[in-house]
Amino acid sequence: MLVSAKEMLNKAREGKYAVGQFNINNLEWTKAILLTAQENNSPVILGVSEGAGKYMCGYKTVVGMVKGMLEELNITVPVALHLDHGSFEGAKKCIEAGFSSVMFDGSHYPIEENIAKTKELVATCNNLGLSLEAEVGSIGGEEDGVIGAGECADPDECKQIADLGVTMLAAGIGNIHGKYPENWAGLSFETLEAVKAKVGDMPLVLHGGTGIPEDMIKKAISLGVAKINVNTECQLSFQAATRKYIEEGKDQQGKGFDPRKLLAPGFEAIKATVKEKMELFGSINKA
Ligand code: 13P
Repeated sequence: MLVSAKEMLNKAREGKYAVGQFNINNLEWTKAILLTAQENNSPVILGVSEGAGKYMCGYKTVVGMVKGMLEELNITVPVALHLDHGSFEGAKKCIEAGFSSVMFDGSHYPIEENIAKTKELVATCNNLGLSLEAEVGSIGGEEDGVIGAGECADPDECKQIADLGVTMLAAGIGNIHGKYPENWAGLSFETLEAVKAKVGDMPLVLHGGTGIPEDMIKKAISLGVAKINVNTECQLSFQAATRKYIEEGKDQQGKGFDPRKLLAPGFEAIKATVKEKMELFGSINKA
């Protein structure tokens, strides 16, 4: 059964660890992440961007696939199915399709509009027992064609959004999606501390988990981050393992062309990356 992310994140915040959100792209991704969570007795959040949702034929297909896997793989750890960086319309569609959690990213709107739209979704999500993530201060880098500048959130605006009753809050602290550039200034812990001081017990979300040094991840968790999103790193591990398989000519040996063989090294590589992140985030045996 899919669950809201509320309880797992509140437990994580109290226990000073973080739950990973791993973005999914297809069946292999989803299966790899769910099995790794189960093997490590860890709660997990499956992230679906609007682009990935479209790629997988739409949100209803995603819900069907994930629910089927929970049952047929005997997954008993808490799993939330979460829309990542949703538009207002996208959030409504996911709620209708059966997601257990949504993010409404109104960070590119003026704060009044972000508040108004977030408020409407708070009411809907509360009625249905779903968790809702809001965002203040856009995350840098590029995701699905949306390019953010990597702002640092205004702590007062964070408080305004947190007070609406959202479940968790993504505040920009200089983090960006994708690989970090050589000259990246690092996370702004000053901003994180100021946001935390304003929003109190609200679990905070760190986007752009790929490539953030371990010490920064640990410090962010100690300052109230309870959910960390990882996407690009699984894509890179999948790519490297698949490239190796083909470069070694394995696709040309015997039945190596069978997609179940061709995609197996990438699948295993995603599992290894997810496990490594769960260890770093401290969520192992916290299911
Ligand atoms: P990365 O692709 O940098 O890991 O970021 C993932 C993310 O924040 C999804 O919202």
